Amino acid sequence: MSQDASTLKLTITGAAGQIAYALLPRLGELLINVESKIDLRLCDTESQLPALNALSMELDDFACPWIEKITCTSNLKDAFEGCELAILIGARPRTLGMERSDLLVANGEIFSEQGRALNAYADQNVKVLVVANPCNTNAYICMNHAKDIPSHRFFSMSMLDQNRAYAFMAKQYDLELAMIENLCVWGNHSPSMYVDFQRATYDGQPIIERIQDHSWFANDYQTLVAQRGSEVIKARGSSSAASAANAIIDNVALLLDQNQCYGNFSMGVCSHGEYGAQPGTIVSYPCVYNAKGELSIVEHIDLDPIAQQRIALSFEEIANEANQCRSLDLITH
Ligand code: LMR
Repeated sequence: MSQDASTLKLTITGAAGQIAYALLPRLGELLINVESKIDLRLCDTESQLPALNALSMELDDFACPWIEKITCTSNLKDAFEGCELAILIGARPRTLGMERSDLLVANGEIFSEQGRALNAYADQNVKVLVVANPCNTNAYICMNHAKDIPSHRFFSMSMLDQNRAYAFMAKQYDLELAMIENLCVWGNHSPSMYVDFQRATYDGQPIIERIQDHSWFANDYQTLVAQRGSEVIKARGSSSAASAANAIIDNVALLLDQNQCYGNFSMGVCSHGEYGAQPGTIVSYPCVYNAKGELSIVEHIDLDPIAQQRIALSFEEIANEANQCRSLDLITH
């Protein structure tokens, strides 16, 4: 956020979609103080401009003191000029008959173009959160086309998986949600992700000491969290929107405000090979703010052999997608 003006230049792509519709009314929650404002750029394809204009009318009708300006655009220069925070939600959804590689190509073009536009127009300290699926790989493509923006400014969202992990655990054992901490998700935002229950605490005490039967954690629990996105799609006919928007708020709050004292949280960040991931890929790790106020991957976690194996498989899936991007010429250097 600009120090002087206290105005956040925020770009949201896919702004005419359902996630953005659930997100926009809540943006005020992200502001540091009551005088902060948002210069909001709503970006979507040209055919969605009427929908964006309607959205802008609704936002006017909020009479929100925190909205400084709204720009509705399909032009990436207008969307990303001076942008300090980009939330990339827009992507081509997978449709019937489409192979994953078709999806990679379609989204590869979108995220290559957005990466180049961010590189050309965004603020030098921009932070980029990729929500659109496959979010780890889309973030990887975007980062690789924004060659002047440091890789540590690119993130993929694993907060929705983390929130699901908290909710299922609390429900299963009738626990108070607010007393659970340090429950993190590793790997890809896909069914291969792994919920690291072993370091989670309840009221400061390791959960695995409080609950003796660990078989639920290692099996059913993992499946419940991993399959929740698909279950929601089955139930509502389209993918999660309100819970995704809520997870964006949680994730961005962490990205914007590093002064608060947090425990560990899940974030898709650019790996340097920590815990065996392919360097340069975007991987969800347990993260923390270190003493210098920098967002960093938690070090020296002692993983048991089952966790190691599960995490390695998820890392491998991410590496395979990254390699596929290279073989499809979506990344050429
Ligand atoms: C979710 O986790 O709910 C979504 O990422 C699922 C999807 O494929 O859109």
